[in-house]
Amino acid sequence: MSTPPGYQSPTVSVAAALPKRSVASSVLIVPVVSVGDDDPTATVVAGSFLPDAAVREIEAALKALGAKGGSEQLTRLVVPSLPVGSVLAVGLGKSRDEWPAETIRRAAGAAARSLSGVESVLTTLSALDLEAAIEGLILGSYRFSEFRSTKTAPKDAGLRRITALTPDTKSATKDAAARAEAIATAVATARDFVNTPPSHLFPAEFAKRAKALGDAAGLEVEVLDDKVLTKDGYGGIVGVGKGSSRPPRLVRLVHRGGKGRKPTTVALVGKGITFDTGGISIKPAANMHHMTSDMGGAAAVIATVVLAARQKLPIDVIATVPMAENMPSGTAQRPGDVLTQYGGTTVEVLNTDAEGRLILADAIVRACEDKPQYLIETSTLTGAQIVALGSRTPGVMGSDEFRDRVADISQSVGENGWAMPLPEELKDDLKSTVADLANVSGSRFAGMLVAGTYLREFVADGVAWVHIDVAAPAYNSGGPWGYTPKGGTGVPTRTMFAVLEDIAANG
Ligand code: BES
Ligand code: ZN
Ligand code: MN
Repeated sequence: MSTPPGYQSPTVSVAAALPKRSVASSVLIVPVVSVGDDDPTATVVAGSFLPDAAVREIEAALKALGAKGGSEQLTRLVVPSLPVGSVLAVGLGKSRDEWPAETIRRAAGAAARSLSGVESVLTTLSALDLEAAIEGLILGSYRFSEFRSTKTAPKDAGLRRITALTPDTKSATKDAAARAEAIATAVATARDFVNTPPSHLFPAEFAKRAKALGDAAGLEVEVLDDKVLTKDGYGGIVGVGKGSSRPPRLVRLVHRGGKGRKPTTVALVGKGITFDTGGISIKPAANMHHMTSDMGGAAAVIATVVLAARQKLPIDVIATVPMAENMPSGTAQRPGDVLTQYGGTTVEVLNTDAEGRLILADAIVRACEDKPQYLIETSTLTGAQIVALGSRTPGVMGSDEFRDRVADISQSVGENGWAMPLPEELKDDLKSTVADLANVSGSRFAGMLVAGTYLREFVADGVAWVHIDVAAPAYNSGGPWGYTPKGGTGVPTRTMFAVLEDIAANG
């Protein structure tokens, strides 16, 4: 394997004790909890890694500064007796016996986000949850500065080294640390794609970068260009892409990890609209630039299949990723046009801004030709997702059992997907007067579920499937929080990878 292009994560190591020699440039991140009800004080947790005198010094300093250990409260201290340049205390809130992984991940993320000009951190957060601490530190330290000139570029290289303190450093612990590092790196890869502007990331370039990542991870890679897509009948991808001077692509990335003659196969499909103007049904100007995130599903799917290979999951994972730019022009499709999806279903395009489902339907039909047992599709599909669930909660639809399994797993990794129904009656709203289906319903209601209903038409019988709508969760347009920066978030990469691991372990 050669070095993949793009994001390079910090090196992660585990250690049972603080170093003997002092490193003045490093920062030690120490969790503290809030103890006492009336006038709480910040108390160091996992203090056994520090000399008692240092613990007392930290607690006295926090008290003097009025820090109370509240959730994600950050206090930077100088503690000369410790072998580090400074200490960063991070609050976890009220003390508990067991720590939810997400609490540790967010605290680590908030701590990492607050540090600039720091290349090396040590932490005892890892004594509470090693993997969550490492994930949080890497995700929180993520930065994207490719498009900054020396006028505004950061002067330092960002976080380069993480030392996680943990009571045992046996090989299982090292594997866990490596797994956390790999997962966080995959999320960063997805974020990089989302953060790359549409001027620089268009279908051919996106396909090229996906191929480079796939090649480096030892995947089988296939890229279909617009000529092949036209010849083979991918009417949805071609129809959406034809308004742009930058033609569409379909990328296939295959990880063959499955054992035996009939391995478990999971299909991944992700929406790769490199920019969505709406097409002839053009969007209003306000916030249209957010549509640089309309390939967030594709980004997460590519990152996930690469991660599956890197972690050697013992199943087959096949990503099918349609990429197009939705533009208005003299060659663009019109409202009222009829196209033929891959596989033969005809569709009346009543609204060219409902383009995601058109490229996804082609990709889903193609993905089902591989006879997967499971299909996971994810996309920034509808504004209605944001209306229904807000900016941080993905909507999870699909076959009942698998949908609930995916939503549960999404909750457990902190991406917080929520199960939503696909009521049977919505299908009637997609009737067309001229074709098999219309691409939008005549009603304003349940837009997220109508989109899911449209996609369901294209999933082969017997395939357990989910559609994860991440319209808002893929892209943080508000302020940074926890381990989530502004811009691309990488959601739902961690959900999909955890589902793949669960399928690999339990079928
Ligand atoms: N890419 C948008 C959905 C979207 C909206 C993503 C806001 C992120 C933030 C999608 O292609 C779209 O335009 N959907 C339409 C569908 C409608 C025409 C049925 C929408 O949600 O308005
Ligand atoms: Zn779109
Ligand atoms: Mn659209």
